[in-house]
Amino acid sequence: MDFYTDKVVWITGASSGIGKELALQLSRQKASLILTARNRDALQDIQRACLQHTPNCALLPADLTDAGNLAPLAQQALDTFGHIDVLINNAGVTQRAFAEDTAPEVDRRLMEINFFTPVALTKLLLPHFRARKTGHVAVLSSMAGLMGFPKRTAYAAAKHAIKGYFETLQVEHTIPGFHATIVSPGRIQTPISLNALTASGQPHSKMDAGQQHGIPVEVCVRRILKAIATHKRHLVIARSERILWWLHKWCPPLYYRIARNAGLKDE
Ligand SMILES: NC(=O)c1ccc[n+]([C@@H]2O[C@H](COP(=O)([O-])OP(=O)(O)OC[C@H]3O[C@@H](n4cnc5c(N)ncnc54)[C@H](OP(=O)(O)O)[C@@H]3O)[C@@H](O)[C@H]2O)c1
Repeated sequence: MDFYTDKVVWITGASSGIGKELALQLSRQKASLILTARNRDALQDIQRACLQHTPNCALLPADLTDAGNLAPLAQQALDTFGHIDVLINNAGVTQRAFAEDTAPEVDRRLMEINFFTPVALTKLLLPHFRARKTGHVAVLSSMAGLMGFPKRTAYAAAKHAIKGYFETLQVEHTIPGFHATIVSPGRIQTPISLNALTASGQPHSKMDAGQQHGIPVEVCVRRILKAIATHKRHLVIARSERILWWLHKWCPPLYYRIARNAGLKDE
């Protein structure tokens, strides 16, 4: 029996990329799934694929930036199978615009989905985890949550913020049996750059070369699922970004030069 067999896992951002692959791999381990995102048609296709392997896969389509709707949504998620074992805060949107060009509303949208939403959903489930004396929340930060990268000011800010929030939650450790995992990926092969927000908030609609040649999403998700199962606190999934991160710590002038040039060549 796998770690996830019969566990109830709520995945946000399950209609695409990492969230979709999380659903597919977890279905093969016979987890009971709750899938959330805005795109109902995509969720229904993924539900059909998951139901080939697991008997339980429910959909809770929602716009997670609708803050007023998150409490009823969390209650619906809890009512779906009677409890939740693992919440994976995966939904997120990135950015492709320089700071000086980015509209303030776009900065706010990026903070909302990448920071306020995962914080709100986590807080809504903490009383449930306290009552059950068990529970796990994973959150997708990014290598952009560990260092700056061009055209990602608000995204990097949100991913730094969510890492800081979850690290502090881990340090506080006030709920017995509760665990949290922060995931910091580099480039993973998903459509994330198509959905990135430009300066005016329109989709970038381009598959960046860096993204196309990133780490396969199947590899990334296998590592995330292992990290949750082993209660790992922080998982970095990256290749060349690791070198940049090392330079960020040990040779900042070189980091600034390389990151700037890499960012300009990004698209
Ligand atoms: N791919 C990478 O290279 C990479 C690197 C570092 C970190 N990450 C992080 O990994 C996570 C997953 O990214 P991905 O690569 O899988 O991107 P993706 O393929 O674009 O998927 C993003 C998911 O988030 C959902 N989402 C976006 N806005 C939403 C909203 N307002 N309400 C509900 N759901 C929403 C999307 O669903 P709908 O559009 O259907 O709502 C989609 O399912 C993100 O947090 C991202 O920042 C990715």
